[in-house]
Amino acid sequence: MGSVTLRPYGPGMTGTTSASGLHLPRYLREDPSVRTPVAFDGYRSTALRAPLRTPVDLPHRLTEVTGPDPVLAELTLRNGGEAVGQRILVHGRVLDSDGRPVPDALVEVWQANASGRYRHVVDTWPAPLDPHFDGLGRVVTDSLGRYEFMTIKPGAYPWGNHHNAWRPAHIHFSLFGRAFTQRLVTQMYFPDDPLFGQDPIFNSIPAAARYRAISRYDLERTQDNWALAFEWNIVLRGSDQTPFETDDDGDVA
Ligand SMILES: [Fe+2]
Repeated sequence: MGSVTLRPYGPGMTGTTSASGLHLPRYLREDPSVRTPVAFDGYRSTALRAPLRTPVDLPHRLTEVTGPDPVLAELTLRNGGEAVGQRILVHGRVLDSDGRPVPDALVEVWQANASGRYRHVVDTWPAPLDPHFDGLGRVVTDSLGRYEFMTIKPGAYPWGNHHNAWRPAHIHFSLFGRAFTQRLVTQMYFPDDPLFGQDPIFNSIPAAARYRAISRYDLERTQDNWALAFEWNIVLRGSDQTPFETDDDGDVA
């Protein structure tokens, strides 16, 4: 993000645009005549908490109009080394209810390592941690709604829901679209997982919608001598919506 060139939008606007293709939101300054005052006579507590001096308007630059830095697309290289496991490229598009791409959507993922263990204090089952894998990723979709991560195929893990219960391999996703109503928290699965049949979380998704939670093996995007690839498109709302997560799956998130 450091190479982004910022230009002011012009009189009355506080936002920024980018010379490198980033779509940055812009905001009008609030009109002071319609803003609730921070100090108000007769509203006693405002006298204690309101600033005594006139606030300084700071320019809205990149930090003020964007979210977290979207640089965590590579999960296999952390803490100075390579994660253990099968490398996979996970990619797809984020779409709205009309099938249109959603650019600038924040896509966050978390997952277990190749052994099926999360790097979290409450995950203590006897599978090894990987010093070079923390299982956390974050990107923002491009102008065509596309996202991608390079990661490790997560392992299955036991979760105590019933005797010998194991979660199918999955990656947790959290997405923000253009509005708070376009938040989606869900899980992506892998095709033909033998654990589907005994997993009540997967089977809580209505049968007709389960396929939407399963990624597709993508031979085209497989990287020769390097990584497998899986495609998963995500629909934020509408009749084709990707199933929401409805329950706690016993992991740490
Ligand atoms: Fe999980």
